[in-house]
Amino acid sequence: MICHFGGPEQTSHQRRLEFLLILISTLTIASIMLASLALRSAVAGCRNYQCKNFAKCYQAITKFTRPFATMQDKQATMPPGYKAKAGAFQTFEIPQQVTGSRGDIILGKAMINAWRRDGILQVSMDESQRSVADKAFATSQRYFDIPYDRKASCVNDQSFSGYIASGEELTDNIADYSEIFTVTKDLPQSDPRVKAKWPCHGPCPWPDTRMKSSIKTYMNHLGDSGDKILQLIACGLELPDINELTKYTRDGWHHLRVLRFPARDKTNGKGKDGRGIGSHTDYGLLVIASQDSVGGLFIRPPYKDEKYANWEKSVAGAYENDHRWVYVPPVPNVFTVFPGDMMQYITNSYLPSTPHKVGLNNDQRFAFAYFHEPNFQATLEALPGFESDENSRGIHYGTHFTNMSMRNYPQRITAKRIRAENRMAVLHTPELKTLGAAPKPAPKEEQGAEGGMQRIVDAVKNKAEEVFFSNQVAV
Ligand SMILES: [Fe+2]
Repeated sequence: MICHFGGPEQTSHQRRLEFLLILISTLTIASIMLASLALRSAVAGCRNYQCKNFAKCYQAITKFTRPFATMQDKQATMPPGYKAKAGAFQTFEIPQQVTGSRGDIILGKAMINAWRRDGILQVSMDESQRSVADKAFATSQRYFDIPYDRKASCVNDQSFSGYIASGEELTDNIADYSEIFTVTKDLPQSDPRVKAKWPCHGPCPWPDTRMKSSIKTYMNHLGDSGDKILQLIACGLELPDINELTKYTRDGWHHLRVLRFPARDKTNGKGKDGRGIGSHTDYGLLVIASQDSVGGLFIRPPYKDEKYANWEKSVAGAYENDHRWVYVPPVPNVFTVFPGDMMQYITNSYLPSTPHKVGLNNDQRFAFAYFHEPNFQATLEALPGFESDENSRGIHYGTHFTNMSMRNYPQRITAKRIRAENRMAVLHTPELKTLGAAPKPAPKEEQGAEGGMQRIVDAVKNKAEEVFFSNQVAV
């Protein structure tokens, strides 16, 4: 009986229960779909930097653009013989245009935070940059594969562009195994600056038009990204003008190093076992690097207990064997971006230049280091709000670059010609200091940036030989 009378009631309850369950399930699925759609549109909005909830969903962007490789995968690519933790660095997407909007300010601040925390950040390549980068990597591999004599003939005695053999460059007096093709501003003999014998000004000795075309295209893309990154940093620093940094980079002295590192068991025996490039900072404004899938790069994030004027005293060789290095694992389709010594100078060390070094791996490795730089004629001064006694005099970039190049390559034909023709003296002429106020002279006894530079200039003018340049810096 119970079953007879209870049956229909239970069925009704069951139906209601089933209906409720179906309703809840449907609502749950619909909610998930709606949330997903909302998130996707929010992210799309954020990519345009117009979204009201930019700050909230910004994390979603960085998460989505992050690679899915595990930490173990990343650690496995580290050169043998090195002990370091693999870094997981924040990845950013650069907008098509920087306008100084609220989104730009938030993005700029996030990039600054990443630099101050990690010392380095990653920027996603867009589709065209991927294609251009692939071609540049292919042509650089092709170049390094040609016979040594042909490679070595690519030098020029007016510019520091061209070939540098493995074991030729020194960092802290130890040979580096990097094999390099450097590209500085490619100027014809007819250029007035070349005619006037400005130091470092001259043609690039390209091996062929194919490499010239692919590398120049790559540099143009990086130049575009470099200016946008600097504008975002200006936004993040809350500078009065978004072009406070890019005012220096118009017709900038942008240059590039095409790098090949041999496998650790295929070196020429001129350097230290396993070492690609010794620890150093780069001397310019902004570094935009890329690497293939063979790992080798290590960076040293800022530490509160370390502060030094990198633009004055070379950090070449510093902390080489310290334990606080972080490995930068290869991540497909990203640039790695970090500040150079000039950025540290103008921000009074708020954005310190990032020490880095390279280890040799089991396979040969290819990389690019692009330097987005001030105009050769520019004098860099402290940014508004970042003034101090340390950066009160200003640094003339052309003098700074020439000094560093003379110091790194004292025996190169370019350095010899600069000395022979006393081209360093040209750096003192007003024609070379047309962007910003000329640097203020430093007291002789002071160890300041320009004072230190002046001593190097004087030493070169006096034809002091490379014994003076004992502490060499790789760039
Ligand atoms: Fe470097």
